[in-house]
Amino acid sequence: MKGTFPVDKFNELQTPFYYYDTKVLRETLACVNKEVAKYPNFCVHYAVKANANHDILTIIRENGLGADCVSGGEIRAAIAAGVPSDKIVFAGVGKADWEINLGLDNNIFCFNVESIPELEVINELAAAKGKVANVAFRINPNVSAHTHANITTGLAENKFGISMADMERIVELAISMDHVKFVGLHFHIGSQILDMTDFEALSHRVNELQEKLHVRGVHVEHINVGGGLGIDYKYPNENYMPSFAAYFATYAKHLKLYPHQTLHFELGRAITGQCGSLISKVLYVKQGANKQFAILDAGMTDLIRPALYQASHQIENITSEEPLEEYDVVGPICESSDVFAKGVRLNATKRGDLIALRSAGAYGEIMASQYNCRELPKAYLSDQL
Ligand code: LLP
Repeated sequence: MKGTFPVDKFNELQTPFYYYDTKVLRETLACVNKEVAKYPNFCVHYAVKANANHDILTIIRENGLGADCVSGGEIRAAIAAGVPSDKIVFAGVGKADWEINLGLDNNIFCFNVESIPELEVINELAAAKGKVANVAFRINPNVSAHTHANITTGLAENKFGISMADMERIVELAISMDHVKFVGLHFHIGSQILDMTDFEALSHRVNELQEKLHVRGVHVEHINVGGGLGIDYKYPNENYMPSFAAYFATYAKHLKLYPHQTLHFELGRAITGQCGSLISKVLYVKQGANKQFAILDAGMTDLIRPALYQASHQIENITSEEPLEEYDVVGPICESSDVFAKGVRLNATKRGDLIALRSAGAYGEIMASQYNCRELPKAYLSDQL
């Protein structure tokens, strides 16, 4: 089944560009809100890194989600879209001083701290401003996410977080400091996770760690389990809504919250992934020795996921109804890895046809680059066409 696109309108636009279907985005947000409302102490932040397009962020903010930011630029993008600063969390393994100061100046809700040196710098910078910064510690839970190695974050070998063995020491250090307030624990095991037992494993690990602090009389107000819920890249039309019900229910069932604790989530891909497509034009169809190539005007500079993670996005010729033929679908960049997919069956394709690369709303536009002196792709929302 192919997606539905306003092809007449597309013909007037310069390709390649990102197209966001706001109906899909709004339905997804409505589903998140409906499911999360079943659990009064659950709170969802949107991981801005997945897509920081201003109009997309604005719709997400209108639907009440907070923002999970990993840079000063993302904090600015969230604020520009109207996200209240008390709904902004700031994570990242290497926060620069100006970024910490930006968070302090805006009184953001919480810094997710990843090391002792970082804690010391936050304490110092907050002292200079006469402020007290809320801090949570990102603990590396050493839980596998069974996903691509490049998007696994919660294993002991990864650079992220503080080791479990150091947790109590760093919590006590924070409690002894005057300009930070320890408010929570933060975790994130990886991205594009479809097996709920991985989130279940994280829940059990959180329970163990919480118990350790509890026996020491340390009260944790906020638990943040990060994001990671995956989407269906293979069937974006049939299955455009991630399983939010199963996701929240897994945590509700397995993660033991103490009274008055809030459980925070940082979902990126699950919120914006399915609403976006990269729309591109076929420049040439080239007959190779034993295959044919569809050469697009979009390349790895516009959507790097296939080259970087061997990710597979559904590819559709949205202007042809001819019988199916097989193509290697490639971009124009001077790199052998600039291949979107090999041996894909498309309706017979010719120069000038429009191609949609689906499920590209997360980690698509935001990861675009100008390599080969190319322009960044533009973006249009369905509301605006
Ligand atoms: N929280 C933290 C601390 C994270 O590092 C991430 C993603 C998220 C939340 C959101 O994860 P999500 O719900 O989107 O899975 N560029 C890669 C994905 C990198 C994810 C990095 N961290 C890709 O295109 O697959």
